[in-house]
Amino acid sequence: MVTQQKSSYLTSLATIVTIAALAVAIGFYYPIINAYIKVGTSLSTTATNTCAQLRTELEFVIVLPSDAQYSALRTKSWSQAAWKNPTCIAIPTSSSDVQKVVRVLVANHVPFAIRSGGHSPNPLDANIDTGVLIATDKLDQVSYDAATGLASLGPGATWDAVYTALDKHDVTVVGGRVMKVGVGGLILGGGLSYLSDLYGLVCDNVISYEVVLADGSIVEATQENHPDLFWALKGGANNFGIVTGFKLKTFPIQQIWGGMLVFTIDQMPDVLQAYYEYQATPNKDLHANTVLNLAPSNGSVILTLVYLKPVERPDAYKSFYHLTPAFEKTGLMTLHELMGSFPATDLPRWAWYMVAFKPDSELFAQISNVIATAPETAAISALQAGTLVGTAQPINQNVVLAGRERGGNPLGLQPVNQTWFSVNIAWWNAEDDSAAIAALESLHAKIVELARRASVELDYIFMNDANAKQSVIASYGEDNVRRLRAVQQTYDPDLIFQNLVPGGQKLPPA
Ligand SMILES: Cc1cc2nc3c(=O)[nH]c(=O)nc-3n(C[C@H](O)[C@H](O)[C@H](O)COP(=O)(O)OP(=O)(O)OC[C@H]3O[C@@H](n4cnc5c(N)ncnc54)[C@H](O)[C@@H]3O)c2cc1C
Ligand SMILES: *[C@@H]1O[C@H](CO)[C@@H](O)[C@H](O)[C@H]1NC(C)=O
Ligand SMILES: *[C@@H]1O[C@H](CO)[C@@H](O)[C@H](O)[C@H]1NC(C)=O
Repeated sequence: MVTQQKSSYLTSLATIVTIAALAVAIGFYYPIINAYIKVGTSLSTTATNTCAQLRTELEFVIVLPSDAQYSALRTKSWSQAAWKNPTCIAIPTSSSDVQKVVRVLVANHVPFAIRSGGHSPNPLDANIDTGVLIATDKLDQVSYDAATGLASLGPGATWDAVYTALDKHDVTVVGGRVMKVGVGGLILGGGLSYLSDLYGLVCDNVISYEVVLADGSIVEATQENHPDLFWALKGGANNFGIVTGFKLKTFPIQQIWGGMLVFTIDQMPDVLQAYYEYQATPNKDLHANTVLNLAPSNGSVILTLVYLKPVERPDAYKSFYHLTPAFEKTGLMTLHELMGSFPATDLPRWAWYMVAFKPDSELFAQISNVIATAPETAAISALQAGTLVGTAQPINQNVVLAGRERGGNPLGLQPVNQTWFSVNIAWWNAEDDSAAIAALESLHAKIVELARRASVELDYIFMNDANAKQSVIASYGEDNVRRLRAVQQTYDPDLIFQNLVPGGQKLPPA
């Protein structure tokens, strides 16, 4: 089944490429550069003229729809639902290129989007139709300084490249768990790692951000230097500037134990109960991590175990050991090897929503029931390649405490044990977009309602798993939002990133 879909996917890709080629042949016409852009010209004319201006000023940095590279860059986003048609794409090779592009876009009032790994499935988070896409693909440096123990990462790097470079030094960072995801978006949304129970979120372990501000200047924000901006970037997404470099703390890493256990769908209630017990054990071992994927349309429940020490079958997972998996693959290996061994899904269109709640065994039983029997599950499964995955990520209170010890962040997290639960769907055809999303929204609303009725719902919405329709930054709490607005007044008084960068989670209006 998967291979058939793959070939129809390739056929549709071929169609898209043909259409794109035709469109280019029919002729995109770029007017001769106007040094002076007339007031009152339409946005698309202004964007087109600005792209032409940028092309003369920064030749190789600007990719126009008529260029061979355009199609591959346009379709780089992980979810095809996020493929757009930017007026042009900027691929800066240095922070100074980013400064030049930003200055021109701001001067000409041209809307833009910022993309790093392109893994947000929200269609306009990191893409745009009329306007310029700034893609950080070439800002992908990764280096390690043994003297300071810091890793320098470009936003356009993938986590695979990061771990490959750090492996040589037997160190790692509090970083992403899936290899192809981008550094930029994951860190700026907070970032959840297999090291988070021990050390906090990814953003809590950033030591400095290099940022291009709206006025085209560049600053390095650290605990000492621009500490307000430094704080705001820990979950502040694209609201304050374009981040061109991160420095992260590193940690020594040895062999670890872990892998994947696959259960049948009728075992879902038992696996969820075991997951509850795993999380509720007094003094949970902070080296133990799990991710639980409930995949009713695949008929399976997939438990990922990552234990950060070379110990086989550690006690931390004892609540799961009495269950018999249909399939098990576990072993001792490096963390990078383990993360690289999890199969990547190759479905084309994606959307998701998230909700946070405190652990509650009755609630888990209800969620299991809803996921298995809701008409929405049947509706999603009935679509071509329709796939529903409910993902339960246990967050120990220490994630929050460790973040506070490292200076704190604006996320407004409560220091309690919690589950970040995301409802993820994938499907094949663009024609099914509205049916798929309607089912997703309805199912998410049901789970939120269950958490609310059990009085365990938490306000926090994790940006990296959130739908564009969820108000992530408002969920950080009023005090944090007020402080973020003050930082915005200092670093972006003209609200360029608020208004000229329409995509991504924005500060809620005052
Ligand atoms: C398969 C998969 C696995 C995942 N695993 C994890 C995980 O383990 N932990 C986790 O926390 N999340 C995870 N996520 C969620 C992921 O963090 C988000 O999707 C995130 O947006 C991806 O980062 P990106 O750079 O690829 O995103 P993009 O789509 O490129 O960007 C996301 C947002 O960040 C903004 N942005 C990106 N780069 C910059 C920059 N340099 N400056 C300013 N703004 C910028 C964009 O404008 C956009 O709004 C996963 C997602 C997928 C699809
Ligand atoms: C959170 O879980 C830990 C087990 O890791 C437990 O010891 C602690 O009491 C729990 N905290 C709260 C606030 O319930
Ligand atoms: C579910 O099945 C699809 C194929 O229909 C596959 O691509 C996907 O990876 C599977 N998902 C999970 C979570 O196993």
